Amino acid sequence: MPIVRNKKIEVLFTAKQIARRNHELSEEIALGDLKNILVISVLKGSFVFAADLIRALHKAGLTPEVEFISIASYGAGTSAGEVRLLRDVDSDVKDRDILLIDDILESGNTMKFTRDLMLSRGARKVSIVTLLDKSMRRKSDINADYVGFECPDKFVVGYGMDVGHAFRELPFVGVVTGDA
Ligand code: IMP
Ligand code: MG
Repeated sequence: MPIVRNKKIEVLFTAKQIARRNHELSEEIALGDLKNILVISVLKGSFVFAADLIRALHKAGLTPEVEFISIASYGAGTSAGEVRLLRDVDSDVKDRDILLIDDILESGNTMKFTRDLMLSRGARKVSIVTLLDKSMRRKSDINADYVGFECPDKFVVGYGMDVGHAFRELPFVGVVTGDA
């Protein structure tokens, strides 16, 4: 079991499993009907996944433009459900096909807010890809079009995901189980 910051980390999804799944996801996305894709990575948690996925999309023959949006969700994983735009995209999304990339779809509040924002600006189509789906935690009426893995109902870290900004650098997804 890896030990990082003197904590034991139980690995849920290895770097190899994630890489394989990213390849499969990009092939699925390439088979879809998205045209001239504008990828929007939802910061901060999705930055590692997005970096790998856009390169997998390139291998799958796609030529997306890439943008970033920063959304704060107070009490992610709690019932608060308040969502706020911290940093907007620069691009005009009118008539665009958008692929939102997030790390985890949990309550769905973040993705619902972001999708509705893009639709209100006239995006033609908004699809969602999430690395992990905690479907048992859903509160908003929203689902991802593409899901990397079903996630157990545990707080996960690594591969961009953090607790207090730590553990984002881990190449795998895991759960902190206790002191080493
Ligand atoms: P929600 O779908 O609006 O509830 O919010 C999901 C967001 O909360 C994700 O994009 C993550 O940034 C964060 N989040 C949810 N669960 C976890 C977790 O287990 N580890 C780290 N971040 C999480
Ligand atoms: Mg997030």
